Amino acid sequence: MINYREKIAEIIAPHVEGLEMSDILDMIEVPADSKMGDYAFPCFKLAKVLRKAPPLIAASIADAIRDADIFDKVEQVNAYVNMFISRENMAQQVVSQVLADGENYGRSTIGEGKKVIVEYSSPNIAKPFHIGHIRSTVIGNSIYKIYDFLGYDTIRINHLGDYGTQFGKMICAYRRWGSKEDVEREPIKSLLSYYTKFHEEAEKDPSLNDEARAIFTRLEHGEPEEVELWQWFREESLKEFNRVYKMLGIEFDSYNGESFYSDKMPRIVQELADSGIMEKDQGANIVRLDEYGLSPALITKSDGSTLYITRDIAAAVYRKETYDFYKNIYVVASQQNLHFQQWFKVLELMGYDWAKDCVHVPFGLVSLESGTMSTRKGKVVFLEDVLNGAVDKTREIIIEKNPDLDEESIEEIAKAVGIGAVVFNELSNYRIKDYVFSWDHVLNFEGETGPYVQYTHARLCSIMRKAGEETVEAAAAGFDASKLTGDSAHRLITLIYQLPEVILEAGEKYEPSIVTRHIVDIAQAANKYYHDEHILVDDEAEKTARVALVTAAETAIRNGLGLLGMKAPERM
Ligand code: ARG
Repeated sequence: MINYREKIAEIIAPHVEGLEMSDILDMIEVPADSKMGDYAFPCFKLAKVLRKAPPLIAASIADAIRDADIFDKVEQVNAYVNMFISRENMAQQVVSQVLADGENYGRSTIGEGKKVIVEYSSPNIAKPFHIGHIRSTVIGNSIYKIYDFLGYDTIRINHLGDYGTQFGKMICAYRRWGSKEDVEREPIKSLLSYYTKFHEEAEKDPSLNDEARAIFTRLEHGEPEEVELWQWFREESLKEFNRVYKMLGIEFDSYNGESFYSDKMPRIVQELADSGIMEKDQGANIVRLDEYGLSPALITKSDGSTLYITRDIAAAVYRKETYDFYKNIYVVASQQNLHFQQWFKVLELMGYDWAKDCVHVPFGLVSLESGTMSTRKGKVVFLEDVLNGAVDKTREIIIEKNPDLDEESIEEIAKAVGIGAVVFNELSNYRIKDYVFSWDHVLNFEGETGPYVQYTHARLCSIMRKAGEETVEAAAAGFDASKLTGDSAHRLITLIYQLPEVILEAGEKYEPSIVTRHIVDIAQAANKYYHDEHILVDDEAEKTARVALVTAAETAIRNGLGLLGMKAPERM
């Protein structure tokens, strides 16, 4: 499809001496107010070189480019050249491209041949999969989808927290207060209650902590009794996680968690020792990072046991050697910023120049209306309960709206919309912002929400159904673009045109909310369009063109929702 920015830069270039093509491209703006055109070129920078007042320069450029056929109109306003792209040309280009590309509209090949690892979700075994995990899970899944759409060769990793001293505590607690039957009936809830009890009891009797540490050491040494219990906790936990992933439609290529690296750590510790950057400190091994304004990285404790950070270093080296990644992305809470800064620095000091290709994508905190969550105190909201709650609520609304719908369809729609509402809510704000989880807000079906976008999409589908297959097919074969030049049509077409750029930007910034916001804009523009202009009019040419635009809008919204990990039901 035509790239208007580049086209404009080519047209302007001969009239602005001394500027590189890339400078011109950077200078081209999209005015906030569409009355100022689709694109604008500010001339302030040229004043020095040309020794002329910017408005005069703008006027002469406007005169020189006015007749190019991609423009309907070119105006000089103060220091700006305001350009109005030919609406007919744009309608022709954009709508026919979307109709031709369909589900591939917005796809790119820029990532071809490049491997990108996206690590996300990574919950801790034997602990609840709670609402706090939704962020990494949903943001990570969307980043994966975006990179996949941009043509990268992606690998999805769930770095399960399935190793560490907490398993000493868990096993200790299970032996003291646990029951096999309870764990089998309600695995995570039971394990969580033991874990909570452990912390309560250990406050009164600190020797419990020593006992737990000793158990963990036995686990590290592969003692069968401990290993068996640990494995059992892991399996039961995974069953629960997989139920949630299934509801969200999320998959992984690898579940290699922390325990996977247990035999890969001695080599790392050795390399660190050989490189001379590691030093002994009261029996522990540390890497000092004061020079970089960071606290020291603790590599092994005085009892020789390794840490979370050691496993991350080993995992990164393993990933580089296994996948030879172009980028290795970690979608992990901003609470772990220091952790990532530390071990990225350690990798660099070890001489791994690919450390620069490891990216931490942080996000803010979720809290509950009644205060923050704490696994230790057992104050959690289970993600599964949230998703089920959303589906239940949605089901009621769907039944109310469509009393005649069959049960199977109701169920399908309630799932797509209820779960979609939670996902969309999660991806609506900049990821770095903290937010408070509120049922009312998530399930609000008005405003800039998932249900609103999905509902708009279903409306577009309904218009297409009413238009009939013949008209939809005729529109795909060709339409009269001169019928799509009204204000609301042009606004909608412009937004659809921008979608591929928006997806690229979201990928570069690891920011799915850029896509979310843009599809809200498309949905609003689509609503306005079919409100302003009746689609199913008598005039065949008129109708065909409008149906073509409706189809393009439907495709753009569906593709956008797909990148968020959401379904686009055809009926609601
Ligand atoms: N399991 C950790 C948690 O729930 C997150 C793991 C993040 N990934 C990593 N490679 N450190 O807090």
